[in-house]
Amino acid sequence: MRVLGIETSCDETAAAVVSDQGDVLSDLVHSQVPLHAPYGGVVPELASRDHLRNVRPVISAALEQAGMRLADVDGIAVTCRPGLSGALLVGVQAARGLSWASGKPIVGVDHLVGHLLAPFLRFPNKPETPRPTFPFVALLVSGGHTALYRVDGAELAQVRELGATRDDAAGEAFDKVAKLLGLGYPGGPVVDRLAHEGNAERIPFVQPMRRRSSLEFSFSGLKSDVARWVREHGRPGDDQTLRDVCAAFQRAVVDTLVRKSLHAARSEGVDQVVLAGGVAANRELRESAAAAGARVGVRVIAPSLRACTDNAAMIAYAGSVRLLRGEDDRGGIEVSPRTALRRLTRKGPGARA
Ligand code: KG4
Ligand code: ZN
Repeated sequence: MRVLGIETSCDETAAAVVSDQGDVLSDLVHSQVPLHAPYGGVVPELASRDHLRNVRPVISAALEQAGMRLADVDGIAVTCRPGLSGALLVGVQAARGLSWASGKPIVGVDHLVGHLLAPFLRFPNKPETPRPTFPFVALLVSGGHTALYRVDGAELAQVRELGATRDDAAGEAFDKVAKLLGLGYPGGPVVDRLAHEGNAERIPFVQPMRRRSSLEFSFSGLKSDVARWVREHGRPGDDQTLRDVCAAFQRAVVDTLVRKSLHAARSEGVDQVVLAGGVAANRELRESAAAAGARVGVRVIAPSLRACTDNAAMIAYAGSVRLLRGEDDRGGIEVSPRTALRRLTRKGPGARA
């Protein structure tokens, strides 16, 4: 089965064609970063309008790159939650139009499920990354979300949230700290690069929610601590100080993410941790999680950098799981700013809701 995936939940207009085995036949992303950069964050109204301009050309280019016409695909998958409502509606309406015109089945996909299944993608001409087996624990760290999940299978109902952030998402913390330091938007990749040459020990920022037993996160205290440091010392002009601030901030975030992910794996009795979402592209997170996992017998699996950040290939693959089961949302797709993933609630020792 070959599926056309469409993604417009935030600031990327993306389309891809993927097989139900995870083979990526085409993968296009039109980024709106330059459009939003002057505002230091995504402006929803601008995002919707830009999706509207680009969604059809991006879909056509994805089909062309796969050497296919719409008639050749077996189904259409589109992100319908969570995200900016106006942005989501553009992708969903485009997908519904194509489904109506071609008579192909269509399914709505939860963007977060797409991220969690990204390690199953195989990109052409890229070294194959190891695939996880179910069950695994997943750390999803993006601009809008930070949470730990137990993943027992590829279906929505088989994914349960174990803990999440109480305030900012990890990517949001990277972006806000970068803004404080005058590093532009999005900040994650720049902080990652500068931190690599910094001394993480020089500035002792607060450690966010370090308590080992809790699987909740909080990054607003750390962000305020960096803001306090900048108020007291001024924006670092000296390059080495800037690198040291980035390194200290990043170390505090990464330490918490790694510690809690491994704690989640241990308490769930699983030996694999998947890193997902844009922040999973972070070099220190990938290296530190792999090293810490190896020490306790947990395999850490991080998708290729291409698969970590927003893309439509992961949406197409997650959609193929639903389409293979014969599901079809031609009757209607509910668009929502919130995820459909649910919290794990235990009813008794070891019981799952
Ligand atoms: O998953 P994603 O592409 O979009 C959302 O669904 O939010 O994640 C984007 C987030 C941004 O906050 C960006 O700053 C962060 O991921 N990010 C990184 C890195 N690359 C992207 N954060 C830290 N280190 C990176 N290398
Ligand atoms: Zn995302």
